[in-house]
Amino acid sequence: MTRGLFISFEGIDGAGKSTHIASVAELFRQAGRTVVLSREPGGTPLSEKLRELVLHEPMDALTEALLMFAARREHLVKVIEPALARGDVVLCDRFTDATFAYQGGGRGFDWQVLAQLERMVQALPDGALRQPELTVWFDLDPQIAAQRLASARVPDKFESQPADFFAAVRAGYAKRQAEMPARFARIDAAQSMEAVGADVGRVVSEWMKRTAA
Ligand code: TYD
Repeated sequence: MTRGLFISFEGIDGAGKSTHIASVAELFRQAGRTVVLSREPGGTPLSEKLRELVLHEPMDALTEALLMFAARREHLVKVIEPALARGDVVLCDRFTDATFAYQGGGRGFDWQVLAQLERMVQALPDGALRQPELTVWFDLDPQIAAQRLASARVPDKFESQPADFFAAVRAGYAKRQAEMPARFARIDAAQSMEAVGADVGRVVSEWMKRTAA
């Protein structure tokens, strides 16, 4: 049976990741794989309810972190683990790195407490931690992201934050990459949409070859 694969996509709001996830899904489908597309916070009926709360209600930083991890736990148990057990490819629009970047970096919440919650929520029966095997990080200057977002849509709680919040979120992603460099692939998201798409395709194809995925 083919091995399940878990890939996450990360970046500050406005970095343009969502448009490229569909192309990655196509790449895997062409290779004969079954793809499960999901997102965080969300991915199950309960997690989507938690998403509504956490993206629109003001709340204490620990409450926010707990809700992110509660939604994640539900998503892992109900969707991600069963899909990986079937041998599917799980492509997730954001995962735990977003919690470290937004709640840890952006909101300044305690990094070590997040690491504790991560260990609790993502522990596997053998004691290892469930993590994406590859994380595609769309890295972008927050000023450029803000310009892109301005015309795009009605902002949610996080998207309406000032530029220095996103500078801190970006630093949070960079810190996470420094902690776990092996699974991170940084993409320069300031490039044109076509160039970003080409980079993403290259990164994923090379990774598939390297890991014989
Ligand atoms: P996003 O994934 O950008 O969805 P959309 O494209 O529909 O706006 O929105 C999710 C928001 O939630 C984004 O601002 C980042 C934030 N977020 C956190 O703060 N912590 C988390 O752990 C996750 C997964 C997301």
